[in-house]
Amino acid sequence: MPKPLLFNAFEMLVPSHQSPGLWRHHRDEGRRYTELGYWTSLAQTLEEGGFHGIFFADILGQYDVFGGSAEESVRGGVQFPQLDPMLLVSALAQATRRIGFGVTASVTYEHPYLLARRLGTLDHLTGGRVAWNIVTSYQDSAARNLGLNGQIPHDERYDRAEEYMDVVYKLLEGSFDDDAVTVDTEANVYTDPDKVRGIGHQGSAFQVPGPALVEPSPQRTPLLFQAGASSRGREFAAKHAEAIFFSGYTPEMTRTWVDSVRDGLASAGRRRDAVKIFAMATVITAETDEEAQQKFNEYSEYIDAEAALALFAGWTGVDLSDVDLDAPLEYIKTEGNQSALAAFTTMDPSRTWTARELARFIGIGGRGPVLIGSPQTIADELERWQDVGDVDGFNLSSAVRPADLADFARLVSPELRRRGLLESPDAETFRGIITGGESRLPADHYGARFRNIQG
Ligand SMILES: Cc1cc2nc3c(=O)[nH]c(=O)nc-3n(C[C@H](O)[C@H](O)[C@H](O)COP(=O)(O)O)c2cc1C
Repeated sequence: MPKPLLFNAFEMLVPSHQSPGLWRHHRDEGRRYTELGYWTSLAQTLEEGGFHGIFFADILGQYDVFGGSAEESVRGGVQFPQLDPMLLVSALAQATRRIGFGVTASVTYEHPYLLARRLGTLDHLTGGRVAWNIVTSYQDSAARNLGLNGQIPHDERYDRAEEYMDVVYKLLEGSFDDDAVTVDTEANVYTDPDKVRGIGHQGSAFQVPGPALVEPSPQRTPLLFQAGASSRGREFAAKHAEAIFFSGYTPEMTRTWVDSVRDGLASAGRRRDAVKIFAMATVITAETDEEAQQKFNEYSEYIDAEAALALFAGWTGVDLSDVDLDAPLEYIKTEGNQSALAAFTTMDPSRTWTARELARFIGIGGRGPVLIGSPQTIADELERWQDVGDVDGFNLSSAVRPADLADFARLVSPELRRRGLLESPDAETFRGIITGGESRLPADHYGARFRNIQG
C-alpha cells in the first residue's frame, strides 16, 4: 500500500519568490501579490487540488549582501518589496474550508507575548488551521532595522529561541484551563478567575508575567514547523518541531539529512517518525514529457543570474559578486543561513558547484530540485523522493506564479489520487491533517509539560 504524501504550496508575499527573473514571463502573475483576490483564488485552486496547506515564507530585511548593497535584489524583485503574510491568513480562511496556513515568524525579532497573541487569534479565526514556521532568521539587514548593530550569533539565536518557546508554551498551553471561559450568565461569570493564571516567566531574555490574552483556541499552540537545518537547528527541531521543511537538490543528500533528523528525534526521546519532513521542490508539468521540457527550456530564458546570486548572498551572507564564476565554491562559516551554503559545498561530497552553475540552478526553484514532466513522470519522481529521501511530503513552489501550482493541482493531483498518494484526511485542524493525531500538542511533546503550570 502506498503511503499518502502531504503537500504544501510554498509561497511568499513578494513579486518574485524562488525563481529570480521569472516575474518577466508573460504568464507570471506574481506582481499581483498585493491583491487579496490573487491569494484567495490561489487558495481555492490549491484546496480543490488536494493541497493540505499553504506555507508562507517571510523575512524582515532586504537582501543587501551581494556587492555590498541591496541594488541587485531591489532591481530584480528578489523577495522585495514584500507584505506581511500573517495579515492575509484570516481572509484566506474565509475563502476556504479545510486547507491549512503555515506562517513564518521570527523568534529573534518578534516578542513572544505579542506573537502568541497573534497566533492564538489566527487559530481562532481559522478554526484551527494555523501552523507556525519557527525561524531564527539569518539577515544582518533585519537585525539592523530592528535596532541591533548586527545579528546575534547563530547558535546564540537558537539558545534564545529555547527560552522563547517556553514563554509561548506557558502562554498558550498553561495560562488558561480548558474550561476557564464559562460564559455563565446565571452566575454572572464570563471567565472563571480561578482557571486563569499568570505565567510568571522570568528568564534571561524575557520577563512575561502573563497570562495570555487569547483564550484557548482549537489547537492552542499552532502546529509547529521549523526550517533550520544546521546542527544546532536540527537539535532545536528534535525538541520542538512537528514538521520540518528542508531544501536539498537530490533525494540522496536529503536522505542523509533526514536520517540525522530522525536520529536526533530518537536521542531527544521522541519517535523517529514524530516529525513530518517536507522537501522543497518546483514542479513543471504538462500533458506530455516533451511539452513539460519545452516549458522548462522556455522558462530558462528568463533566469536572472545576477538576481539569483543576490538571493544566494542574502541567504548565506556570502557575496559572490567578484569571485571567479568558474571556480569551485567553498564552505565559509557565516552568521547567516548556514545550511543554505552547506547544501552547495559540504553536504553533497559527490558534487562541486561553481558560482555560474549555482546561479543557473537557483534561477528556477531556488535551492530545491526542479521536477519536469508529465503527471505520470512527476508522480514517479515524487515516489522516488519518498522512497530514497524518506520524506513525508513536499513544499511546492511555482517558477511561473501561480501557473505551475495550478498546473500541478489540475494535472498531477488526479494522478496522485489514482495511485493512492493524495488523500484528504478527515481531521478538524491542521495538526490533525498533517500529523494524523489530535488537535492539541501530543502529550509527549515538550510543550505539553507547560499545561499545568502554576504561575
Ligand atoms: C527550507 C528553508 C526555508 C526557510 N524559510 C525561512 C523563512 O521564510 N524566513 C526566515 O527568516 N528564515 C527561513 N529559513 C531560515 C531558518 O529557519 C533558520 O533560521 C536559518 O536557516 C538559520 O538556521 P540554520 O543555519 O540552522 O539553517 C529557512 C530555512 C530553510 C532551510
